[in-house]
Amino acid sequence: MDSRGSTPMVPQRAAVPVASAPVAAPLLLGVDAGTSGLKAVLLDEAGRTVDEATVSYQFLTPRPGWSEQDPETWWQAFRDALAILWSRGNDPAAVVAVGVTGQMHSLVVLDSQGAVLCPSILWSDQRTGEECAEITDRIGAETLVERTGNVALAGFTAPKILWIRRHWPEVYERAAHLLVTKDYIRYRLTDDFVSEMSDASGMLLLDVRRRAWADDVIGELGIDPALLPRLVEGSDVTGDVSAAGAAWTGLTAGTPVVGGGGDNATAAVGLGAVDPGILTLTIGTSGVLFAPLDRYPSTVNGKLHVFCHALPDRWHLSAVTIAAGGSMRWFRDLLAPLLPVNGDAAYEWITDRASHSTPGAGGVVYLPFLTGERTPHADPNARGVFYGMHMGTNLDDIARAVLEGVAFSQRQCLDLMRDAGARAAVVRGSGGGLSRPLWRQIMADTMGIGLQLAGPGMGSARGAAVLAGLGVDIYATPNVGMEWAAVPIQGPNPSGAESLAAPYALYTELYPTLKPVFAAAASRDSRAAAAE
Ligand code: XUL
Repeated sequence: MDSRGSTPMVPQRAAVPVASAPVAAPLLLGVDAGTSGLKAVLLDEAGRTVDEATVSYQFLTPRPGWSEQDPETWWQAFRDALAILWSRGNDPAAVVAVGVTGQMHSLVVLDSQGAVLCPSILWSDQRTGEECAEITDRIGAETLVERTGNVALAGFTAPKILWIRRHWPEVYERAAHLLVTKDYIRYRLTDDFVSEMSDASGMLLLDVRRRAWADDVIGELGIDPALLPRLVEGSDVTGDVSAAGAAWTGLTAGTPVVGGGGDNATAAVGLGAVDPGILTLTIGTSGVLFAPLDRYPSTVNGKLHVFCHALPDRWHLSAVTIAAGGSMRWFRDLLAPLLPVNGDAAYEWITDRASHSTPGAGGVVYLPFLTGERTPHADPNARGVFYGMHMGTNLDDIARAVLEGVAFSQRQCLDLMRDAGARAAVVRGSGGGLSRPLWRQIMADTMGIGLQLAGPGMGSARGAAVLAGLGVDIYATPNVGMEWAAVPIQGPNPSGAESLAAPYALYTELYPTLKPVFAAAASRDSRAAAAE
């Protein structure tokens, strides 16, 4: 089924309280076009959050394993978020620079006039198993890792480009520009086709070690290099807000826009994770463990993502659970017709139910593979599972199993990070999922590590605003406005950790056991789709 005719989503506004009284000047604007919404943050010259606004939206699942959004949705949400900020008395003329960030890997295809040619195929989409195999065959598994730092995973951008070339040839023939999410916002604001190293790393077309397009890989895959954006570093100014961009947004024409970064890299900047020795965990739709590096790693084996950081001479390792907060959102939406409350209150309701179960969720184990899985399995065919239900299982157990399953996945990611040499006594956490103390405790117990929770407004959008401040010399250091020493550490609770050991061991056994079942089901599905 071709989903290009799908109706664009209508953004839903979610009001965020004013953080403090409006400030005159200068302000730095950071924008994060995420999977479930867009956040815009204003920082002052000391790196303090002045105000923030969020506009929520949905994504489409036209088939199991597919995820799409209309790029126009992000742009409309951006304009709506700014309108909220200006309506609260923040002065658009005080904004002296803009930084952009967003979901990584999600492909935007534009024609020569800059018009969007098809829905964006998102980072969480798993349709490109065949294209990943094709890339690996054409380049060679070892050469691919050597040249790009990574193996071909369904979420990355290059397989999406090949998929479109094969399945939507009329789109590919008209394609003049290939971008990822935040770079589309930049294009609408400045008319420039530019990306930067951290997001370009996730396209699987970048020589991550040398921070330049991997021309040989691009050539071997038959992709015209003219389709790709110009590359800069995250704090470089890429262009100015155009007259049209100013008319659409209220920003002043000529305001500089910096490179910005992929959402995990800017989240790390926003959390002060620029140098080695700091680990961050972000539970948004995905769950990402992130370790900054000050050099390209000496061993690269494809188990973890190796990407450029959003600042020059920095790289990072990351590990991704695709459906982390996404599992909670799915569970909330599933229960929605039965719940007494909705929105964020529904998350509280579910967490409260989970708190009435016990560690191990009464024997229920949840595998969070709702859209396949990245780390550690790299398997687009994996699917979500509840295992171990019995006549005594109740909703409290199922709710707790969802929280534990995501934490178990993160534990496997942490073990890989440790194997790769990443060391840290505590993890700096951000993202909506970690705002719930029970989930934080389950994460700390499962992972055996202390967690520090970032304050409000300290996510990806903040990091993008920090990069903007660095780009126009308002900030001298990315660590502006950080006070981690005073943030309490939520440590593992020994009894919780002990009770979770056996359920975790069971979790680790389930994927290898089910892997052939997932593969057989996927091959039946693809035969059925081919026969349609
Ligand atoms: C990272 C990844 C996700 C998205 C979420 O590789 O795919 O974390 O960036 O927005």
